[in-house]
Amino acid sequence: MTPDLLEAGAQRKAAHAQKVLKGRTESGGRAAGFSRPAVPGEVDVAHGRILYLEDVSVSFDGFKAINKLSLDIAPGELRCIIGPNGAGKTTMMDIITGKTRPNEGTVFFGSTIDLLRHTEPEIAQLGIGRKFQKPTVFEQLSVFENLELALKTDKRVAPSMRFKLDSAQADRLAEVLHTIHLASSVTRMAGNLSHGQKQWLEIGMLLMQDPKLLLLDEPVAGMTDEETARTAELFLTLKGKHSLMVVEHDMSFIRTISEIVTVLCDGSVLAQGTLDQVQNDERVIEVYLGR
Ligand SMILES: Nc1ncnc2c1ncn2[C@@H]1O[C@H](COP(=O)(O)OP(=O)(O)OP(=O)(O)O)[C@@H](O)[C@H]1O
Ligand SMILES: [Mg+2]
Repeated sequence: MTPDLLEAGAQRKAAHAQKVLKGRTESGGRAAGFSRPAVPGEVDVAHGRILYLEDVSVSFDGFKAINKLSLDIAPGELRCIIGPNGAGKTTMMDIITGKTRPNEGTVFFGSTIDLLRHTEPEIAQLGIGRKFQKPTVFEQLSVFENLELALKTDKRVAPSMRFKLDSAQADRLAEVLHTIHLASSVTRMAGNLSHGQKQWLEIGMLLMQDPKLLLLDEPVAGMTDEETARTAELFLTLKGKHSLMVVEHDMSFIRTISEIVTVLCDGSVLAQGTLDQVQNDERVIEVYLGR
């Protein structure tokens, strides 16, 4: 090898070392992850993912509801998940939130938190909020009391036992009320709200905990067209501040909010892309229409 080539090689190596030190490598940076210690209470998203699933499978009595499912979501992303009934969408959320344990696979929150090592309450504490399809607000309490209650970590304390909000919590409550379009209904009993308003209140209760990732299972089912449109607006305002995973069958709603759409079928990813891309995918057309 000539001295020139040796010199050029040494320079390339030095330049690469500089990039590694700055946490930027061509590979997307394993070095970045190792050199940046995880801050307690923070989710390490140095690898550009807030949620990472790899080869996850779960069987119920021999039936593979989730089958080698791999998927990841970027911080601040609003990911839409569609797929026929029984595709495994809800089961996937059960796995992420610790309700169901997979038989195999990897599930990470950021690059350092192995969700399979945590219990369901711990996962909620880590910053993953989940909205089930049916609203589960406290009907006998006011909108304000519901939101206030969402801040209580010890849910065994009776709802009527008031505790005092500090000023940061009061600010947060006011902000959430505004976000969920219920600022003018603070004193109304939750039981008297419309179905859509109850759904927003429940989302507000999740927001009180300032979750990093929100999982929403069929959030607009049963809503009027107007409520659906307002929910789309709400999700677009949440995007960026939070990461969202939204499962829905309502395609016009998906069209309004979606960037990347993932199609699940038989427990794994069938297709992924923009809504137009996946709707024109032959395999997707077949699973929706062909069977
Ligand atoms: N606990 C369980 N025991 C047995 N089978 C289950 C269990 N949970 C889910 N399944 C089965 O796993 C498959 C996936 O169900 P899942 O509820 O995840 O589908 P989905 O995509 O959410 O469907 P939908 O759009 O109808 O809500 C279904 O065949 C379902 O019957
Ligand atoms: Mg479901």
